[in-house]
Amino acid sequence: MKTDLSIIILAAGKGTRMRSSLPKVLHPIGHQSLLEHVIETARALNPKNIVVVYGHGGELVPTTLEHLSVDWVEQKEQLGTGHAVEQALPKISHNDSVLVLYGDVPLTRLATLNNLVSKLDSEHPLTLLTANLSDPSGYGRIVRNDNAEIQCIVEQKDANMEQLHIGEINTGILACHGESLTGWIDQLDNKNAQGEFYLTDIVALCVEEGHQVASAQADHEWEILGVNNKMQLASLERQYQQNIALDLMTQGVTLRDPMRIDVRGKLEVDTDVVIDVNTIFEGDVKLASGVQVQANCILKNVTVGANTIVKAFTHMENAIIGKDCSIGPYARIRPETVLLDDVHIGNFVEIKKAHIADHSKINHLSYVGDANVGKNVNIGAGTITCNYDGANKHLTKIGDNVFVGSDSQLVAPVEIEAGATIGAGSTITKTAPAEQLTLSRSKQVSIANWQRPVKKPKQS
Ligand code: UD1
Ligand code: CA
Repeated sequence: MKTDLSIIILAAGKGTRMRSSLPKVLHPIGHQSLLEHVIETARALNPKNIVVVYGHGGELVPTTLEHLSVDWVEQKEQLGTGHAVEQALPKISHNDSVLVLYGDVPLTRLATLNNLVSKLDSEHPLTLLTANLSDPSGYGRIVRNDNAEIQCIVEQKDANMEQLHIGEINTGILACHGESLTGWIDQLDNKNAQGEFYLTDIVALCVEEGHQVASAQADHEWEILGVNNKMQLASLERQYQQNIALDLMTQGVTLRDPMRIDVRGKLEVDTDVVIDVNTIFEGDVKLASGVQVQANCILKNVTVGANTIVKAFTHMENAIIGKDCSIGPYARIRPETVLLDDVHIGNFVEIKKAHIADHSKINHLSYVGDANVGKNVNIGAGTITCNYDGANKHLTKIGDNVFVGSDSQLVAPVEIEAGATIGAGSTITKTAPAEQLTLSRSKQVSIANWQRPVKKPKQS
C-alpha cells in the first residue's frame, strides 16, 4: 500500500535530569542537536511533512532550529505522549501513514524506520518498534497473548509483577494509519498511575477494533536509546563517533585508534589517509589521498591536498591547503589562508588570511597575516608581518624568491619585491627593491677594556 508519509517528532519533554537550562533536544551529539539528528533521518524518509511537537523551553527550540523547514506545534502542558501527538493531528492528513519519532532518540537508522513503516498494511494499521532488553526497567512492556499477538503496552508504573518480567519493551517509535490514529487518540484517557494521556494505549484500542499490531526490531540497541541525562548523552556521543570511525575505516582510512577520533560535521576522505589519535574534525573537512594527520590536531572547514602531512598539535580553520605541504607541529592556520603546493609551515607559526605560493617556507615562530607571499620564498624564524596599526589591517606583499632574514618586522602596507633579501633583525617600512639586500639595523659596536660590574663584598 503506497500512501504519503507524515512524521511526528515528540520533543516537548522537560529533560529535568539533564540539569541544564538548555532544552534537552538541543543538546548536541557530534555537530548537531539531538533533534536535528532525528529531523535529518526523518527527512531522508521523504515524508510529505514533518511536525515537531515542542514545549519545554518554549520558543527556544523552534527559534534555534528555525532554518529547518518543519512544522512546529506547541504542547503547552506536558500531559503525556498521547496528548503530544494530539497537538500534531491538525497537520496530519487522514490518508497518510504516520511515523512517530522521539526528539531525544537520535541514532535510529533509516533502514530500521523504512522496515517499520513497510509493515503497515490493511490488516496492520499499527506497527511498533520493540526491543528485547536484558534490563527492561523504566520502559513500557509489550504484552502478547499465547499466539504471540501484541495485546497492549503497560507502562512500568502500571505493570504487575508478571508484566514487569517481560523483556520486550516499547521503544516509543511507531507507525500507523492517520485515520486510525485520529480515532484512537480521541478515545484516550488519563486514568493511570501517572495521570497522563498515554500514546501507548492506542495499542489496546487497535486490538479491540479487531486489528493486528505488527512489530519490528532495530539491528542495534543504540538505535533505540534515548537521552535523559548527561551520562546517556556521552554514551550516545561515543556510539555516534564509533559509527563514523567504522565508516571511515570501511572507506579505507587508517585510524591509529578508532576510539580516539571525533568528527563533528562531515569528513570526506580519499584513499590512503592516515589519522592519528585525538584528532577533531569540525564542519566540512576534505582530506585528499595520502594525507596524514598526526596526533592532537583540530581541523575545521579545511581542504587538504594530496600527500600533505599535518603534524601534531596543529590547529587549522577555514583554510585551503595544497598538496605535498608540511604543516606544524604546533602550527595555527587561521581563516582565509590559502597554501599552494609544497609549502612548509613549521612550529609555532601563525598564518592568517594569507596566500602562500608553491615551495615557500615559514618554518619557525612567525606571524604572517594579511599577506600575499610568492613562490620559493623563505621567511626566517621570528618574522612578523605588522598588519595592524591599531585601527586597520594592511597588506604585506612578498614576491617570488624572496629571503627574509630572521627576526624581521614587515610593517604593512609594505612590499618586498621579487628576489629581494632582507637582512636579519630588520624593521621594513618601505618597499624593498627586487634583487637587492635591504636591511635596517643599528650598527654593532664593541667596547674594549669594558669591565663587568662586580658584587660589593657583604658588610660584616
Ligand atoms: C515512553 C513510553 C514507553 C516507552 C518509552 C521509551 C508512553 C506512555 N510511554 O515512556 O512505553 O517505553 O517512552 O522511552 O508513551 N513527550 C512530549 N510530551 C509529553 C510527554 C512526552 O513531547 O507530554 C515526549 C518526550 O519529549 C520524549 C517522548 O515524548 O521525547 C517520550 O516521553 P518520556 O517522558 O520519555 O516517556 P516515558 O515515560 O519514558
Ligand atoms: Ca524516556
